[in-house]
Amino acid sequence: MRALTITPGTKDSLRLVDDAPEPPEEEGPVLVEAVAVGVCGTDREIIAADYGEAPPGEQHLVIGHESLGRVLEDPTGTFTAGDLVAGIVRHPDPVPCPNCAVGEWDMCRNGQYTECGIKARHGFARERWRVEPGFAVPLDPALAEVGVLLEPTSVVAKAWEHIAAVGARAHWEPRTVLVTGAGPIGLLAALLGHQRGLTLHILDRAKDGPKPALADRLGATYHSGQVADLDFEPDIVVECTGAPPVVVQVIDKVGRDGVVCLTGVSAAGEHVGVDAGALNRAVVLENNVVFGTVNANRRHWNAAAEALGKADQAWLADLITRSVPVDGYADAYAPRDGDIKVVLGF
Ligand code: BGC
Repeated sequence: MRALTITPGTKDSLRLVDDAPEPPEEEGPVLVEAVAVGVCGTDREIIAADYGEAPPGEQHLVIGHESLGRVLEDPTGTFTAGDLVAGIVRHPDPVPCPNCAVGEWDMCRNGQYTECGIKARHGFARERWRVEPGFAVPLDPALAEVGVLLEPTSVVAKAWEHIAAVGARAHWEPRTVLVTGAGPIGLLAALLGHQRGLTLHILDRAKDGPKPALADRLGATYHSGQVADLDFEPDIVVECTGAPPVVVQVIDKVGRDGVVCLTGVSAAGEHVGVDAGALNRAVVLENNVVFGTVNANRRHWNAAAEALGKADQAWLADLITRSVPVDGYADAYAPRDGDIKVVLGF
């Protein structure tokens, strides 16, 4: 069968192989036929050999962690053939650590977790994959066109759960949220903010293209300047650019009792001049919390499926700006102006 593989440690080794082995039974009893795989920045880092690890004893890694598939067979009876599912990315470490032991593998303490298509576990960019029923998330058939957005939505569902957990430290009535970066994570974070009834502001460097209109359809105010120049102080910031100057500016900009949630994975090496004393003073005197978040557990995947089900389906569909057949994979992984989410179709 066909699969998209890379050789970890070798730059630009991405290729489509025709003779990949069928998924082994050890991956789980549920056999799934791939429908689509989403492309994200992590995939590009893996292709650039900055990241990514093959399963133990293997040289290649099947990539793809944003999945959508149809169940072919499930001897456990959890699913019926034809059901639409997405596969959970992270699997608990084998020890397990206290967090993995209670299903919170997104908060793994020892780093020995595995991730499909990323770390020591094959991904979903192959014609068929297998999964344990507990790691397959069912999707409403109405989400067939947009269900591939479930994985990035799970990441922001976790972000919002943790923002609420931080807020619960004291009485808190947040009104305004600023989302920086209008890529898929930023726009999906904004969608969840919208579903929580917050006043939305979205900031991105793009002045044109599809982003301003997508923001407008969520009822958000769109900004394309500098965070430092905004004339309001948000109660919540969801930072989705990972750009160091933006990160520093949002910490400074957030209002009293504010929460800054960092979701962007940045490369090391960019130094920005910071008055650390002033920044620390602002955070302390305003009771601010700055925290990072990555990945998602089953609870967040379920919340994400619910959020997608409630969303405007046409708006979600417009986040997918390119859908490329798997043969055109090289094109799909090459970023283009105006891209939001690029999806590979199987
Ligand atoms: C994925 C997460 C994963 C992270 C780090 C992200 O692109 O969405 O599930 O934990 O990369 O590997």
